[in-house]
This record gives sequence, structure tokens and C-alpha cells, in this order.
Amino acid sequence: MILAANFKMNHTRASTRAYLQRLNSIEKPAHIDLFVFPPFTALDSYESIATIGAQNAYCAESGSYTGEIGLAQLREFGIETLILGHSERRHIFGESQELIAQKFAFYKEQGFTIFYCIGETLEVKERGEDAIHIYLQKQLEGIDTSYDKLIIAYEPVWAIGTGKSATPEDIEKILAFLASHTDAPLLYGGSVKPANIAEILRIPRCAGALIGTASWDVESFIEMIQIAKEI
Ligand code: 13P
Repeated sequence: MILAANFKMNHTRASTRAYLQRLNSIEKPAHIDLFVFPPFTALDSYESIATIGAQNAYCAESGSYTGEIGLAQLREFGIETLILGHSERRHIFGESQELIAQKFAFYKEQGFTIFYCIGETLEVKERGEDAIHIYLQKQLEGIDTSYDKLIIAYEPVWAIGTGKSATPEDIEKILAFLASHTDAPLLYGGSVKPANIAEILRIPRCAGALIGTASWDVESFIEMIQIAKEI
């Protein structure tokens, strides 16, 4: 099982260090792989029971790409795990599928573990199941879904940061659809919190959760780890 904390644009270097120190004070359950994705300025070579990853990176070793970081900056801290295609990158920062696929190919070549995010908007959801399938399939264009270090996170855009998770029935259907296209572990993300994580982790084919808001408080993340331990 995988539990991942996406800090987004939250936490500083100091608070990330304190967070990871507290996280290290628990015993990592053997069957749970933990990941933490701090913002770029808080990346470091931490001793941690969680694997540290980056929330995004450009597809080059280094170069003239103002405002970006690349392979050289990740290597400095031994980072080999990356989120790509997050809906906030797609919808707020306008990343195209083509760019995301280029990043994917570059970091796949480097052997990175890639948390690849897909998910439909509310407008697509309201058009029904076929529309959702077509939309998700487009988000897999140019992505090697047989890559052995690929983890797919299904994160419906309307469920992110809204407090309103997708229903277990809806998640189950989408994960079944995705499982017909890939053998990659499938995560759910979108308003996962201590109150709903148990039912989400019990969904068939759900290999874990990518958690935003409810992971930013370390005690809340630890609470979810403890709940997951019993599943
Ligand atoms: P929330 O848990 O805040 O809905 O965010 C989910 C997410 O985007 C994780 O990547």
C-alpha cells in the first residue's frame, strides 16, 4: 500500500524538517510505502521513513529554463521520485499533455518512480462515463503505461481541495477502467482524510492514496497511516 503526502505550496524547509522528524518517530508499517512531496525549496537529503519526491520538474539536466528545476537539482538530494501531470499543473499552469509526456519520457529514461496524475473536470464528469473515459485516455497519451516504476493517481479535479471526495462506487468504476489499460498501482486522490481513508483504501484495485490538505498536518497524516495499518 502507498500513502503519499503532497505538500503543494505549503511548508517551509524548517517545517518540513520538523514534519519528517515527527514522522520518523512512528514505526513504519511494513506493508505501507510512505512518500512525502515537499515544495522545491524544502528538498534536501533527509533521513526519513518516507521517500522524498518532487512535485514537478522540467525535462532537462540543467539549462536556460527560468523558474524551473531539472535533473541536476534533484540529483543533488538523491531524489528519484516525481509527481507529473498533477491537475494543478495542467489547469492552473497550463501544462499540455505534450509537455507532460516529454517530462515523463525524460524521467522514465532516468529510472525515476513517477506518480502520474489524471482526473476529469466537473464539466466532463457531468457529461457521463464515456466522456470521462475519453478524457482520461487523452491524459495517458504519450505515456508508457507499462513502465515498471509508474504509479497512477486518479484525482478527479472537482474532488481536489474541496472536501468532497468521489464516492467509493465511482472510484471503483474508474479504477477498473484504468486497470484495463495498465498494471501500474492505482491510487486515489481528492479530499482523502482520516474520516474517509478507510473506505477508500478498501476499494478493489485501490493501492493507496495521494493526499493533499489532510497530509499537511503531520498528526493527521500519522492518523491516516495508523488507519491504513489495520486494512
Ligand atoms: P486534497 O487532498 O487537498 O484534495 O488534494 C489532493 C491532491 O491534489 C493530491 O495530489
